Amino acid sequence: MTWLVVGGAGYIGSHVVRRLRAEGRHLVVLDDLSTGVRERVPADVPLVVSGLDRAVVTDTLRRYRITGVVNLAARKSAPESVALPLWYYEQNVEGMRSLLQAMVDVGVTRMLLSSSAAVYGSPPCTRVTEQTPTAPINPYGETKLMCEWMLRACGAAHDVSWIALRYFNIVGTADPVCSDTGGESLFPRVFQRLTTGRPAVVTGVDFPTRDGTGVRDYVHVADVADAHAAAVARLESDRCADVYNVGTGSGYSVLEVLAAVREVTGLPVEVEVVPSRPGDPPEVVAAVDKIGTEMSWWARNGLHDMVASTWQAWRPSALTPTRAVRRRRAPGPGRRQRVR
Ligand SMILES: NC(=O)c1ccc[n+]([C@@H]2O[C@H](COP(=O)([O-])OP(=O)(O)OC[C@H]3O[C@@H](n4cnc5c(N)ncnc54)[C@H](O)[C@@H]3O)[C@@H](O)[C@H]2O)c1
Repeated sequence: MTWLVVGGAGYIGSHVVRRLRAEGRHLVVLDDLSTGVRERVPADVPLVVSGLDRAVVTDTLRRYRITGVVNLAARKSAPESVALPLWYYEQNVEGMRSLLQAMVDVGVTRMLLSSSAAVYGSPPCTRVTEQTPTAPINPYGETKLMCEWMLRACGAAHDVSWIALRYFNIVGTADPVCSDTGGESLFPRVFQRLTTGRPAVVTGVDFPTRDGTGVRDYVHVADVADAHAAAVARLESDRCADVYNVGTGSGYSVLEVLAAVREVTGLPVEVEVVPSRPGDPPEVVAAVDKIGTEMSWWARNGLHDMVASTWQAWRPSALTPTRAVRRRRAPGPGRRQRVR
């Protein structure tokens, strides 16, 4: 079997590529390199540089005899999606539709999708199960939910076997070249400020949580890559139509994360408090019983591992080519796409 990893030059995608390749799977990566980095794709994995153009995807599926697709490609900034909703619908929803159309045309019937806890919006409960009602609060979350709907419909109409993984807050790295250096999540934001001598920003200290700061379920990207390996194995052997939460099942507050950063780096880590954002839930933690029971997957890394591996990539002596490249480029609409 050969898997096409769409978005395989990105932060999570490059970890997934390494994990699947370590198991000896045949892979091809398709990525427009808008936020992805060419150097993250191993030299022996073919890279098609393109957006989700139906003709290019169709040609790629045929040329490499693809039997399954992992789709990680998406624009992923919630605030940006509020400012540029039509671009997000075009990129994430129309991109996914073109990809599915090409799969149906060629007869490829397995897909693993990167979904997100953003489909739950501000959930009415702390511990979120897959049955918690979906109610996204921004266009980014809506696009992720629409992609799940498209998969479900293609499962019924075109026999596509599918799994959607709803990731919670992915952090850490298994290899500094693959690290998340441009993201908007807490870890890159803290390390960005720390390495430029500025205080870490804490958004809200008046939540009804144990220390007043927001609590989130952080999960190590290496564990997330393992979850993909388990899901790919299942798609190779079973007919699937499933969503799974991917988290640790435990939450850490912002202050707990900062305490771990202090411990790992030995740096003082000053704090600047700003008001909480409207709609920010106090505490969101994944219920992970379903993925544990059905796919025997549980996260193995703790908070210390997540912080230590992020620091490996961020400490001043670790300026990798990836970071240098990412600092020079800014994603956004209008970027030209090339096919190689
Ligand atoms: N990082 C997180 O915490 C998180 C949480 C939940 C869900 N997700 C989802 O996981 C996926 C991967 O996220 P990431 O953090 O690795 O982001 P990333 O930006 O590092 O990776 C996305 C990759 O897809 C490529 N890409 C984007 N749009 C494309 C398109 N139209 N055609 C071809 N390639 C395209 C980019 O160049 C990049 O290599 C995304 O779908 C994101 O929505 C991420």
